[in-house]
Parts: sequence; structure tokens; C-alpha cells
Amino acid sequence: MSSSVSSGVSMQSGRDTETKTVPGPILLLGAPGVGKGTQAKELIKTWNIPQISTGDLLRANVAKGTKLGMIAKQIMGRGELVPDSLVNEMVALRLLEPDTATGYILDGFPRTLVQANWLDGRLAAQPEALPLVAVSIQVNYNQLLRRITGRRSCPVCQTIYNVFMHPPQRDGFCDVEGAALIQRADDTEEVFKERMRAYAALTAPVVEHYRALGRFAEVDGDRPIATIAAGIVAAVERLRHTA
Ligand code: AP5
Ligand code: MG
Repeated sequence: MSSSVSSGVSMQSGRDTETKTVPGPILLLGAPGVGKGTQAKELIKTWNIPQISTGDLLRANVAKGTKLGMIAKQIMGRGELVPDSLVNEMVALRLLEPDTATGYILDGFPRTLVQANWLDGRLAAQPEALPLVAVSIQVNYNQLLRRITGRRSCPVCQTIYNVFMHPPQRDGFCDVEGAALIQRADDTEEVFKERMRAYAALTAPVVEHYRALGRFAEVDGDRPIATIAAGIVAAVERLRHTA
């Protein structure tokens, strides 16, 4: 694909004259279970940019038994947040990967004002980088609880299911890979409550920070997955073409 990424917000695909938005950095904000991971996987289909989920990166560190993973495991198990310095360093390393050149979807980051200020400063130091666009997803508490306790995922392809709302065709197994589905250790009602407390105290102010900066959209996350994804794509397109 030929592209004119440096020109700002559009690129041409192939030999035709179709102009596509260059997505740049996109933040998906929202409480545990609003569908950040689910929507990130939908947006990849539109823009072919990577999902950077700090939760997934931390869980990979836990699984590998790295020093970071050993620190994070206990904290995540309690539903609290991993220290900013460790998370920022992990994200900094991920953003050095070449697949982030035309954009990336940040899922679960930034989650504190310290992380947001770090990210804002990093982007400000890169004059060629597009400003970020923030999308906040809203879902009510009872629905979130149902989503969290019903969530299962495939350890091979990471497809996310829900035993109540969109179960796999064969109970307990991935439709794509056939692998046995797994449940996250922190997907209990007790830990969910603590994650919600951390969200209200530390992450809700991040949403207000990006609302105040502009290039911000709010979407109703209590709709079919494809409908929400279409809404996010439309919002990002609109915000990218807003001065
Ligand atoms: P993280 O992994 O980010 O967890 P979270 O924020 O609690 O969010 P979730 O992954 O639970 O929900 P989601 O919004 O991705 O929803 P999903 O798409 O899966 O973080 C885990 C922990 O890591 C934190 O508690 C913290 O300790 C640590 N951490 C991570 N980032 C950090 C940071 N930046 N700083 C410090 N610590 C950090 O969907 C949920 C369910 O709903 C699924 O079953 C899905 O199938 C279903 N669903 C989704 N959309 C719909 C829909 N439209 N209709 C019906 N069902 C749906
Ligand atoms: Mg997630």
C-alpha cells in the first residue's frame, strides 16, 4: 500500500483514489468491562494498527514470570493499579515498535493523570506525531458486572466471549481455534468492585482531562458490538478532520 502518512490526516490506498483517514494514536477509555478490548479488535479490522493493551502486556509479563510480572501479579489480583513508572516504561518500549508508525489503539492506558501527562509530553516532543483522539465508552454498573463475570477468552487468538451475551458455539471452546477458553483471575465480583473503585478515584479524572483538551468523543457501549465500532470509527474520522 502506498501512503502519504506525513501529510497529516489522509492516505491513498493502492491504485485507486480512495482516501482513508490516518488514525494516529487513539485512546479507548472506560471502566472495567465497557468493551475496550472488544472494540480495539474491531478497530484493527478498519485501520490495521496495533492494539496496545497495558492489561494484556502486564498479563504476558505475569505469564512469563518477568520481574515486572512478579510485581504486577499481586497488585492486579487485588484490583489495584500497577505503579505509573513501571507502566509508562512498558508502554514506552512498546511504542518504539515500527508497527505504531501510522497509529495505535491504547486500551487501558493512560489510567492515571501521571500516565496521561507522561503520554501528552511524549507526543508533544514528537512534532510529526498526530495528536491523540480519545473515545470514552459508557456502560452502566450492573451490565459491567455481568460482562466481567461472564467473560472468557481464547488463550491462542485472544477472541473475547461472554457466557451470558455472546457465548461460543461450543460451550467452553473457542470458535476459531477450538482451544479451551480461560477466565481471568481478576474477573470475580469482589475484585471487580475494587477495580471500579480504582477507576472512579484515578481514571475518571483522566477522562475529564481529555474531554477538556478536545478531540474527545463519548459513545454508548450498551449496543451491539458492530454498532459501537461503527460509532467509534465515525467519531475518530470526524475528530481527525476537525482543526
Ligand atoms: P485491564 O486488562 O485493562 O482491565 P480493565 O480496565 O478492568 O478492563 P477489562 O479488560 O476488564 O474490560 P474491557 O473494557 O477490555 O472489556 P472487554 O472488551 O474484555 O487491566 C487489568 C489490571 O491490570 C488492572 O486492574 C490493573 O491492575 C492493571 N493495569 C492495566 N493497565 C494499567 C495501567 N495503565 N496502569 C496501572 N495498572 C494497569 O469486554 C468485557 C466483556 O463484555 C466480555 O465478555 C465481552 O465479550 C463483553 N462485551 C464487550 N462488548 C459488548 C457488547 N457491546 N455487548 C455485550 N457484551 C459485550
Ligand atoms: Mg480489556
